[in-house]
Amino acid sequence: MTVQTFDVVDLSPEEMERSYLEYRRACYDIVYRNAVDRGVLKVLDKPVTLAQFAEKFHVVPDKVDVAGLLLKALVKHGAVKHDPDKDTYTAVAEPPTHELDIDLIRQATGRDSFEELRHSENYAGIIDALTTDANPVATTFDSDHLPVWEEVLQAPFYRYSRVQAVREIGGTGPHLLDLACGPGFGLGELAEFAPTDGTVFGVEISTDFVASATQRNAADERIRVTRGDVTQPLDFLQEGYFDGAMIVGAYHFLRNPEPLWDNVARLLRKGGTFCVSYVLSKVGTIDQEIMDLRFALRRPVSYQPTRQQVLDLAEAKGFELIREYGLGAWRWYSFSRK
Ligand SMILES: C[S@@+](CC[C@H](N)C(=O)[O-])C[C@H]1O[C@@H](n2cnc3c(N)ncnc32)[C@H](O)[C@@H]1O
Repeated sequence: MTVQTFDVVDLSPEEMERSYLEYRRACYDIVYRNAVDRGVLKVLDKPVTLAQFAEKFHVVPDKVDVAGLLLKALVKHGAVKHDPDKDTYTAVAEPPTHELDIDLIRQATGRDSFEELRHSENYAGIIDALTTDANPVATTFDSDHLPVWEEVLQAPFYRYSRVQAVREIGGTGPHLLDLACGPGFGLGELAEFAPTDGTVFGVEISTDFVASATQRNAADERIRVTRGDVTQPLDFLQEGYFDGAMIVGAYHFLRNPEPLWDNVARLLRKGGTFCVSYVLSKVGTIDQEIMDLRFALRRPVSYQPTRQQVLDLAEAKGFELIREYGLGAWRWYSFSRK
């Protein structure tokens, strides 16, 4: 008997995006419910400007801009109205009730219930972060946060984007490069495509994550990991050696991504494939406000390149776009090196 196994990575990008966006609607809902529990909506009983809200809610001075993003997220959710003339915010009398599709959310997150999602999500900590100098929702790339990252990087919607990149570059030839490889899930996934004499090389800036990636893939001799900054010249790697390269979930942490493109242009052979996957972008999708809010508190800081900025750099460095899609604000691009 053949057992049919289903893996979310086989969904079409459109199906995955539907699931992903439902999950983000749930994130707005989580923030809204926490806002109610913590008295945010009470402060918005009467019209207030951001400055008045910050004063009444005791927001610490350097987080007033984050409070502004919270108000924008609540507007997007439909619980708050913004008056553009007076620049004031007011809670609406009857906030809309959103029927959430738990099957779609489960498909995107792997979580079985909305309550589980609500309690596990660090969106819950955002409002508490506004009134304290501490940042309970920062998730730096170190051993303290490794368990959180291991969970995020294996979440179905995230793994989806990485596996599509793995599939895109996996068949290009024996030598594959994972830039900003993190704790090394992508290296293992790439190795499934590499021949026995192939190479899967990871470069990663966090010492703790290099250690984790090395340990995770220790049994596979084709996999090598080294500590390095992908925005510095990767001179220790041979010119034109790689058939495929990917950077997943990391492009938006690069203040200036141009040197990354120089590295990839040097390291990829002509006709090789470069996949920029899961890059947080300013594209105006419905998850924009919730992503802006979440990433305002995340450390290290992140940037949100527009599609045009990515394509302009690719063009300038000799790459041609061959495929792209998006999961809300998260974009995925595949390029061929001309
Ligand atoms: C969200 S994780 C993604 C990890 C991995 N690519 C994955 O998809 O499983 C982002 C990673 O980018 C790394 N990173 C950020 N800036 C970097 C840089 N300039 N050079 C190398 N790695 C970097 C971080 O340390 C972190 O491990």
